[in-house]
Amino acid sequence: MADALKIGIAGLGTVGASLVRILQDRHETMATTCGRAIEITAVAARERSKDRGVKLAGIAWFEDAVSLASEADIDVFVELMGGAGDPAYSCVKAALMRGVHVVTANKALLAAHGIELAEIAEQHGALLNYEAAVAGGIPVIKALRESMTGNTISRVYGIMNGTCNYILTKMEKEGLSFEECLKEAQRLGYAEADPAFDIEGNDTAHKLSILTSLAFGTAIAADDIYLEGITNISIEDIQAASDLGYRIKLLGVAQRTDSGIEQRVHPTMVPHDTVIAQVDGVTNAVAIESDILGELLMVGPGAGGDATASAVLGDIADIAKSRPGAQHVPAFGRPAKALLPYKRARMQSHEGGYFIRLKVVDRTGVFANVAKHMAENDISLESIMQHSKHYADPAEPKTIILVTHATSEASVRKAIVSIKGEGYLVGEPQVIRIERPKAW
Ligand SMILES: NC(=O)c1ccc[n+]([C@@H]2O[C@H](COP(=O)([O-])OP(=O)(O)OC[C@H]3O[C@@H](n4cnc5c(N)ncnc54)[C@H](OP(=O)(O)O)[C@@H]3O)[C@@H](O)[C@H]2O)c1
Repeated sequence: MADALKIGIAGLGTVGASLVRILQDRHETMATTCGRAIEITAVAARERSKDRGVKLAGIAWFEDAVSLASEADIDVFVELMGGAGDPAYSCVKAALMRGVHVVTANKALLAAHGIELAEIAEQHGALLNYEAAVAGGIPVIKALRESMTGNTISRVYGIMNGTCNYILTKMEKEGLSFEECLKEAQRLGYAEADPAFDIEGNDTAHKLSILTSLAFGTAIAADDIYLEGITNISIEDIQAASDLGYRIKLLGVAQRTDSGIEQRVHPTMVPHDTVIAQVDGVTNAVAIESDILGELLMVGPGAGGDATASAVLGDIADIAKSRPGAQHVPAFGRPAKALLPYKRARMQSHEGGYFIRLKVVDRTGVFANVAKHMAENDISLESIMQHSKHYADPAEPKTIILVTHATSEASVRKAIVSIKGEGYLVGEPQVIRIERPKAW
């Protein structure tokens, strides 16, 4: 049997502790599968005395994660601390610069520095593996980076944030408000004490930026993403969507268009009878549409210690099995220097169906006037209806709900500006984009 693969792990939290336990429990099986043993030789975290429920005796403890990455006797540095900046950034860079392979679950780091780190990895003959960084245990990185090589991808999209999907599912199933569902998600540990990063869509955006690069062979452009979170979604929207045969999901979508690539994260209505609409709770799903393979949909656990550690384990096993001196798979599927510049398609040119909910004062002619503004902006309507069932009092504002056929974002925005100018709107209109999966 070949020499053991020596690994150093920085970060012993939810994912790190799971990884240590699994590697220790499955030591023999992994050695047989990989043709060599995998030994944890060094670890680092902030607090040495913390009980992490795993055995750390005989493993070198580093007070400083950067020292572990730059000095420890290791073949692989596993970064499980998180964060786009230091120490994660300096650690990963230091390890790669001395030719030590890196495995990380850190989407924030990759979204900010992925291409630079990929270049360093290539220059020093090291691998940069990050399957766990997007959709946790779902093997979407490998699918895009290796399995689908040669396909031209037209769209990749998915539910990539369990917190948001849990909240939206609970709102729909139990008729509870956003705030009530967020509190429950926090109580169950599905949402952070400060949930902004998840519910505002930033976490999905980080993951999407990585998928976009892999799917379209472009540089990562994490700051160039249209972003809308789920905080404005009301129970009224969810009920109206359900009445119309849709469910609301927070999707990250990257799509090739004639004018460039669209990257967008927003609440999205998906037809009720599609598989992605049925993905509930904290589960994740990623769909890829391409010319040779057609449509691929992967559904599975997007977070959690063991599910995420499973993806990290797979990355480590790939390194253990790789032959010394063999050509490495580049981190983003093609050599970093061959990645194309990212060309953004303007959100105004996005084409699709729209759900529009307006609250209006109860006045004769308003309904017809709304329809007139839609027609003037070349927006063809699939349906328009007035909801008055929720309002017993005739003085209460009425709700008008419109669903459009495919139209441009610019037309919808223009129509809404003109409707606002009429003076009969109460509050802000709600606009939710509709996404139609190809096959499901
Ligand atoms: N949790 C998930 O379900 C999940 C899913 C997908 C991806 N990820 C990614 O996996 C990574 C780890 O997430 P996690 O949930 O395991 O995080 P976590 O539970 O917060 O654990 C973070 C670990 O990093 C250590 N750490 C933090 N700052 C450090 C520093 N300056 N120096 C040394 N160690 C430091 C902490 O040490 P102490 O324990 O001593 O405080 C802790 O052990 C992140 O990049 C995250 O985005 C997580």
